[in-house]
Amino acid sequence: MRTAIVYEGNQGGSAAIARVIAAEAAGHGPVIVGEVGEVPISELEGVDFLVVGGPTHRPDPAEGPRSPAAAHVLRESQPTANGVRHWLERVPARPGFSAATFDTREPGLRVLTGTAALGLYRALRRRGCHLVTRPASFLVGPGPEGELLDGERERATLWAAAVFRRAEHHHPVRVAG
Ligand SMILES: Cc1cc2nc3c(=O)[nH]c(=O)nc-3n(C[C@H](O)[C@H](O)[C@H](O)COP(=O)(O)O)c2cc1C
Repeated sequence: MRTAIVYEGNQGGSAAIARVIAAEAAGHGPVIVGEVGEVPISELEGVDFLVVGGPTHRPDPAEGPRSPAAAHVLRESQPTANGVRHWLERVPARPGFSAATFDTREPGLRVLTGTAALGLYRALRRRGCHLVTRPASFLVGPGPEGELLDGERERATLWAAAVFRRAEHHHPVRVAG
């Protein structure tokens, strides 16, 4: 199974989760992992499973979106040009791969914090993509550093293991001959 993992992020939390997921993916076949600007859509050729993630940023109505990820929180927000939502809009309709989404966000009720992963999930579903699991959130501490909380890397490993089992079920390994 060939996997692509595409993320967006400013402070390294989403990148760290992407690396954890990539380590798990490597046990299932070739892996492409990169920040949204590093992975052209053409790289999706031959991919069986796509994982997309990024940070949750609530847009400030006075300032406009504070980062490309801001557009993730509100469904009706316009995706900005260099963000992962904009990248997803160029994914061909009815792609031949299945997918999963994640975000990083602060602890708390999802209804209060917002969640980028849900916006990504909906965007992929609109493309006709099969999503193998519900959107996942990995938690960072409050404050400017936004470090991943203790245990979140381990939780991401477990999440990825379960997700790759499902993805493989959806895309059974093709046996030559
Ligand atoms: C401008 C700004 C707005 C943010 N808004 C939210 C928010 O609405 N909800 C939330 O859970 N976290 C919010 N955060 C925290 C980010 O989700 C956190 O910094 C991010 O997940 C870290 O991911 P990264 O290291 O990949 O950039 C905000 C952070 C910044 C800098």
